[in-house]
Amino acid sequence: MTGAETQTAAPPAALAHCIAAVNAALATPAPQPHIAAALARLIARDDWLPPAYAVPHPAHYQQYLLHADPAARFSIVSFVWGPGQQTPVHDHGVWGAVGVLRGAEYSQAYRADGISPPQPTGPRHRLIPGAIELIGPERGDIHRVANALPCDVSVSIHIYGTDIGRHRRHVYPDEGGVKPFISGYANGPGTPPFQP
Ligand SMILES: [Fe+2]
Repeated sequence: MTGAETQTAAPPAALAHCIAAVNAALATPAPQPHIAAALARLIARDDWLPPAYAVPHPAHYQQYLLHADPAARFSIVSFVWGPGQQTPVHDHGVWGAVGVLRGAEYSQAYRADGISPPQPTGPRHRLIPGAIELIGPERGDIHRVANALPCDVSVSIHIYGTDIGRHRRHVYPDEGGVKPFISGYANGPGTPPFQP
């Protein structure tokens, strides 16, 4: 991320409500269902994400930081997929919730041992607007995600249990092995993260 990291903007109301709901959820003994519900409410309407946070890159997917909890207990990002773009097979190391805001995505779970080529497990899921998928070490943490639309942009909103762009995790190349991975963020001067 650029120097915009030190800038912040006031969040759209729907995002502010989600941030407040996640903070409230984290004060409860079992926050994840409440966080998933907050994400479901956030993506129920596609009228709040400023266009600058939904701009695709011509060559690869983009991840914009929408909000980072000051204590790094969670982060909210927009994932923007150009036509045909996909992630490598990767893990997260923390819980997360993925919700499609616009377009459609494919999510394919994998098994990977860090030596052999990663192997798909189960069917590939097609996620449409409003759909929520939960990820994390306790429920299946390795997957590949792709834009399901061949000719259009898709956007999803993700909530993770850490500052995901600074979190050390792993990519599992198709030929086998494992590589360390820190995703960073695509934010620039026109896309500062939001802080209520
Ligand atoms: Fe992922």
